[in-house]
Amino acid sequence: MFCGVPGCRVFQTVFNVGAKVLPWRRAVPVTGSGAVAKIPGLLGQLGVARPMVVTDRGLMESGTAGVVLGVLEDASVRYALFDRVESNPTVNTVNCIAEQYRAQRCDGFVALGGGSPMDAAKAAGARAVFPNKTVNQLGGLLRVWKKIPPLVAVPTTAGTGSETTIAALITDGETRHKYAIMDLHLIPTYAVLDPDLLTGLPPAITAATGMDALTHAVEAYLCWTYNTAESIRFALDAVKGIFANLEKTYNDGNDKGARMAMLEASYNAGFAFTRAGVGNVHAIAHTLGGLYDTPHGIANAVILPVVLEDYGERVFKKLSALSEAAGIARAGASDHEKARAFIGAVRGLNERMGIPRGFDFIKDEDIPRMIAWADKEANPLYPVPVVYGKKGFARIIQRIRR
Ligand SMILES: [Fe+2]
Repeated sequence: MFCGVPGCRVFQTVFNVGAKVLPWRRAVPVTGSGAVAKIPGLLGQLGVARPMVVTDRGLMESGTAGVVLGVLEDASVRYALFDRVESNPTVNTVNCIAEQYRAQRCDGFVALGGGSPMDAAKAAGARAVFPNKTVNQLGGLLRVWKKIPPLVAVPTTAGTGSETTIAALITDGETRHKYAIMDLHLIPTYAVLDPDLLTGLPPAITAATGMDALTHAVEAYLCWTYNTAESIRFALDAVKGIFANLEKTYNDGNDKGARMAMLEASYNAGFAFTRAGVGNVHAIAHTLGGLYDTPHGIANAVILPVVLEDYGERVFKKLSALSEAAGIARAGASDHEKARAFIGAVRGLNERMGIPRGFDFIKDEDIPRMIAWADKEANPLYPVPVVYGKKGFARIIQRIRR
């Protein structure tokens, strides 16, 4: 229906008009060292007497989940627990959570983890209010038109932004297609940003998730049309915070000041992209997550500089502004030079944090569906600075192969 560049731009222009009247909001941030102690009080304010905690095995084994469960137990909160969310949550997992939620008569969620547990809890919340719809039927934009149960998001990484976004990324376990449910009702009620939960995060996960946050901020800032003054400010603040703090947290996981700054940057980037959209980098990254379980942040980190370089002079001015926000712009340099410096700085971050330059596992036979999925995800919805057709996606996929 919306074909080619003109069709995409018509869709985005019309969508932008509609988006202005939507009731946008942010998850209320509850921040600082020890902020998790406030969770029982937040649940009380929301009238949640029987929360379901959604988390993953890694957080159970590391003891991070135990900190939050201990807070609930100390406050005599009777919770249900689902602790088996996988790195790319599947439809089956969402259905299991929704079923347990119903069977145990829960009335709200505490989503504890990186993007995966938060996304799984959001999708299960949607299933809870639409028990007769499948997860696939809820996929896409604005199909959850009812309030979901209250959701307190507790990120244990600084990157996904899911604690304040409209999106839940779910993978169809049979086709391996990873897709988004996007609706304003999925925005969590509270985002508890506690740096104490992140001090044990391994450097590799710190790096990957931080690069995800950077990709959110950059793609939102490069947005062709949905940006607002607020989303622009949040994107710039996020870029500034990430360049100032990501490597600090990579090199010293116990630096709570830097961890807090990264949590705030991730939250800011999350708001920026939930309002202004992501772009072609994410569209390709999701295909790698679905097909090969590639960590989302690693996929973004590898693809981001390749796509920025491919956009060329069409994004020089905006990349120049990002270069200034990041504090890497040389005084007196041209937009072109500042843009190149920004792309170089992204590559430098990747290199110093051990992120590969490309992937050797992309199979020839998978490429046609990667192109089709990326095209379907990005067009016409994503307000990208350069609309890729199938050839554009194919070009980038070839360039990230090693
Ligand atoms: Fe992302």
